[in-house]
Amino acid sequence: MSSRFDQVYRRSIEDPEGFWAEAAEALHWDKRWDTVLDDSNKPFYRWFSGGKLNTCYNALDFHLENGRAHQPALIYDSPVTDSKKTLTYQELRDKVATFAGVLAAQGVAKGDRVVIYMPMIPQALVAMLACARLGAVHSVVFGGFAANELAVRIDDAKPKVVVSASCGIEPGRVVEYKPLLDKAIELARHKPDKCVIVQRDTKTCELTKGRDLDWKEAMDAARPHECVPVAATDPLYILYTSGTTGEPKGVVRDNGGHAVALKWTMKNIYGAEPGEVYWAASDVGWVVGHSYIVYAPLLAGNTTVLFEGKPVGTPDAGVFWRVIAEHKVSVMFTAPTAFRAIKKEDPKGEQIKNYDLSGFRTLFLAGERTDPDTLQWAEEKLKVPVIDHWWQTETGWSICANCVGIERLPVKPGSPSKPAPGMNVQVVGEDGKPVKAGDIGALVIKLPLPPGTFPTLWNADERFKEAYLDEYPGYYKTADAGFIDGDGYVFVMARTDDIINVAGHRLSTGGMEEVLAAHPDVAECAVIGVADQMKGQLPVGFLVLNAGVERSHEEISREAVQGVREQIGPVAAFKTAVVVKRLPKTRSGKILRGTMQKIADDEAWKMPATIDDPVILDEITEALKSVGYARNA
Ligand code: COA
Ligand code: AMP
Repeated sequence: MSSRFDQVYRRSIEDPEGFWAEAAEALHWDKRWDTVLDDSNKPFYRWFSGGKLNTCYNALDFHLENGRAHQPALIYDSPVTDSKKTLTYQELRDKVATFAGVLAAQGVAKGDRVVIYMPMIPQALVAMLACARLGAVHSVVFGGFAANELAVRIDDAKPKVVVSASCGIEPGRVVEYKPLLDKAIELARHKPDKCVIVQRDTKTCELTKGRDLDWKEAMDAARPHECVPVAATDPLYILYTSGTTGEPKGVVRDNGGHAVALKWTMKNIYGAEPGEVYWAASDVGWVVGHSYIVYAPLLAGNTTVLFEGKPVGTPDAGVFWRVIAEHKVSVMFTAPTAFRAIKKEDPKGEQIKNYDLSGFRTLFLAGERTDPDTLQWAEEKLKVPVIDHWWQTETGWSICANCVGIERLPVKPGSPSKPAPGMNVQVVGEDGKPVKAGDIGALVIKLPLPPGTFPTLWNADERFKEAYLDEYPGYYKTADAGFIDGDGYVFVMARTDDIINVAGHRLSTGGMEEVLAAHPDVAECAVIGVADQMKGQLPVGFLVLNAGVERSHEEISREAVQGVREQIGPVAAFKTAVVVKRLPKTRSGKILRGTMQKIADDEAWKMPATIDDPVILDEITEALKSVGYARNA
């Protein structure tokens, strides 16, 4: 007999239009759709064509009309500033409507872009939702990125307005955002008309006359703005993510499919009932923050927690349990690296005993594979189901998940369970043909992707096709490799491109190589991701210097490290660069990054048959040993 989950899944694949049309009934539509799945321009699929709605209306105003006006919508908990604040749905809606008025007064209208570069403060959510209210397209840039990365995104999105803050607060240091913003605008070819700046008490900044507005003054002077209905297929946001080069990809999310899918996931994947408190300990700059700090919980009438702190050090490894107990969190979502950080500091979970976690039901982990050790530790200490689920910026929600709201399946450590409804995941070999159960291959998703994923890349339809669709016609290439076992459980093993995952943050080694290669003394370079106990992976760079360079290698390595920090940002966690004489290559000149990584991680490796000069690998091994890797080589 097939399980409840299998029945729901099968229906989503056999009758996607019926399945998602039913889910769409949960939203308020200004005009119903004409076509559920519009496939008239394959491989570009559109969901709910002809429909009109407003995402902000569905996330806020809808709940005021349905008895939630006085329910907390947002709980801001900030151990780094020692402050807490709760906003009801009514209060949040009013702030959002007023800030929509601020943006409208600056000429922002439907379709215009607004870049948001902010720390984890309520104004970040207010700015995002205000854009949605106007039908403007937001693009949030993570605060850990440097000015150059912000400039690249400003040039691609061409925002009319940038919303930012005077500073962010990291444990032990204040990150001044304003100089980074000024530098980015100076570097960018496109200049925004205005910037709106939140002045934080911790550190205020000088405003640029004629360009910058003070958030508070602008709010005081503004008139609230109504929701502007937009086409279901109109863009809601652009979120840039690492591609295989330094040029990030602008993942586009539409309004209709996104709202339908995300609202559906809250109950069906996370098992969260409207009114319950849901906490995604991530950052609004990442996709997890977009989907599960902001849109999904609000669309579903939950209370969302906005946490400005870290799992450890703000002030200690008990802060997650404090937040869960104090705000009565039912469901939490974070990255495994956060749990590894807690486990390192409090291996016995002593801190957990200090808090009442009786209302806590389920922990979800994503952003990187949950290693079985971390899974087991969390299960044992918290005594709740711990669910690994696999997803990507591109998909906006889980590709695979144990959908506890439909039916909780047995957990298999190391697997994010089965494909989620709507996600027809398959494993194909190099010839593009499906492989046998248990065999490793490329993980692909049969088109069309379900609602809430991405219809294209911003202003880059060709790149969208070329990067994701061309290699396996009829499928979306996830760029992850893995296998599906005989029970239908998916195991995600590795990326097939140069993306690495550092503390749940997705980074391109190619992007780092571009920075290193620009150093005047560097002739050639390579960056690989090596295993790290806490962050999952860390980047390590290899530099080959130009002939005749006689400066100290330490100094050049230091400059290389500083260069990546300045150009990409501290979030890259690029701390190690070693000078080597040569890089190992195939006879056709391809750098053997995979072999270097295996040596660094003390994994078994084979001498590549096509290697140009095997001796170089000995030199690389020595270089790795000198910085603490390849210990057993
Ligand atoms: N603004 C400015 N700088 C930032 C930043 C932000 N929003 N976020 C991180 N940084 C900086 C940090 O200060 C640090 O700088 P440093 O090199 O001067 O120390 C650097 O970027 C790396 O930060 P981070 O990856 O957070 O490492 P950490 O050592 O400070 O903390 C963890 C390690 C595991 C505690 C932390 O990575 C964490 O909480 N991870 C959760 C992962 C997560 O939320 N993932 C999102 C996907 S679900
Ligand atoms: P991002 O776009 O930042 O969400 O990163 C997506 C990538 O992170 C995926 O392609 C995977 O490589 C990795 N990833 C995310 N979640 C998981 C998971 N649960 N298991 C394995 N890999 C994951």
